[in-house]
Amino acid sequence: MLNGKSILVTGGTGSFGKKFIETILKNFSEIEKIVVFSRDEFKQFEMSNLPQFKGNSKLRYFIGDVRDKERLMRAFSGIDIVIHAAALKQVPACEYNPFEAVKTNVIGAQNIIDAAIDREVKKVVALSTDKACSPVNLYGATKLCSDKLFIAGNVYAGEKNTKFSVVRYGNVAGSRGSVIPFFQKLISEGAKELPITDARMTRFWLKLEEAVEMVVMALETMHGGELFVRKIPSITMLDLAKAMAPNLPTKIIGIRPGEKIHEMMISSEDARNTVEFDKFYIIMPDLEGVREMMNHKNGKMAPENFEYHSGNNKDWLSIEQMKNLINEIS
Ligand SMILES: NC(=O)c1ccc[n+]([C@@H]2O[C@H](COP(=O)([O-])OP(=O)(O)OC[C@H]3O[C@@H](n4cnc5c(N)ncnc54)[C@H](OP(=O)(O)O)[C@@H]3O)[C@@H](O)[C@H]2O)c1
Repeated sequence: MLNGKSILVTGGTGSFGKKFIETILKNFSEIEKIVVFSRDEFKQFEMSNLPQFKGNSKLRYFIGDVRDKERLMRAFSGIDIVIHAAALKQVPACEYNPFEAVKTNVIGAQNIIDAAIDREVKKVVALSTDKACSPVNLYGATKLCSDKLFIAGNVYAGEKNTKFSVVRYGNVAGSRGSVIPFFQKLISEGAKELPITDARMTRFWLKLEEAVEMVVMALETMHGGELFVRKIPSITMLDLAKAMAPNLPTKIIGIRPGEKIHEMMISSEDARNTVEFDKFYIIMPDLEGVREMMNHKNGKMAPENFEYHSGNNKDWLSIEQMKNLINEIS
């Protein structure tokens, strides 16, 4: 499906971008080329020297900022598929620099859509986050805005054939700044207790490989307009603490601004547009003209008032399973 195609990944030097590129290089030997689009030359240099990428003539490195539409127009020339992974994504950074978050996450999305349509890119998949569902912080709000722009892009494309879809996922277990490396650091420094913001706190557990698989699946099946949500297991923060340090007590420190008790992927408001499949859900667009273009068989409509959040999940990891997975990613 990706063989013979030219693919561009915005944020190609990020955690998702690198894993995605490594995976598709392995699985699709006839890819025409992959363009890594990002701002920092050093991250590109480091990436190009990683053993899995070094000397690969299919990889091109393109310095650019998604805020700069002219540069995107240049970069998208001859591109068939765009994966949009570039974002400002740290909650506190977006809170303290709100205009910057809007410029990258919202104006950047608009630029991607415009450039993709004008350059006749065939498919665009944009990455979203659980924080975009019923958002309580600016990061989530900008990503919700971005999601809606991409879905609307299908109407905006008009006669042109560009298709836009979104893949939404939750915190990647073990990613930079997340709770696992935080607890690991405290444990290695000899902490006497582990801080938990709220005893009821739950989170989804996602492996980077699963996010990559979901994007590849979206590319294979998308008609344009879908928001894909993969089914993944949940954990409680108290169990995670037990898995990482069975003998350490926990201390409840209180919920932080912009934090939720449970992370939400699909809200009850989205339920009437949600179709369930074996391994994932699709939130269909509420836009006239777009929904009709879609043709997803084998799915069943979610019941009224359905919600999918890390607290009402049917799939939970045991402490033992968490221990094994932590060993895998450490
Ligand atoms: N990590 C998670 O837990 C998680 C969870 C859910 C959803 N997501 C979503 O997944 C996507 C990828 O996340 P990630 O974890 O791979 O992030 P990451 O590791 O922080 O990488 C971000 C990438 O975007 C690039 N970038 C940032 N601003 C840019 C700009 N203005 N123009 C061009 N490139 C820019 C960065 O490179 P430069 O700084 O060199 O430009 C880097 O390559 C994001 O959309 C994020 O919202 C992530």
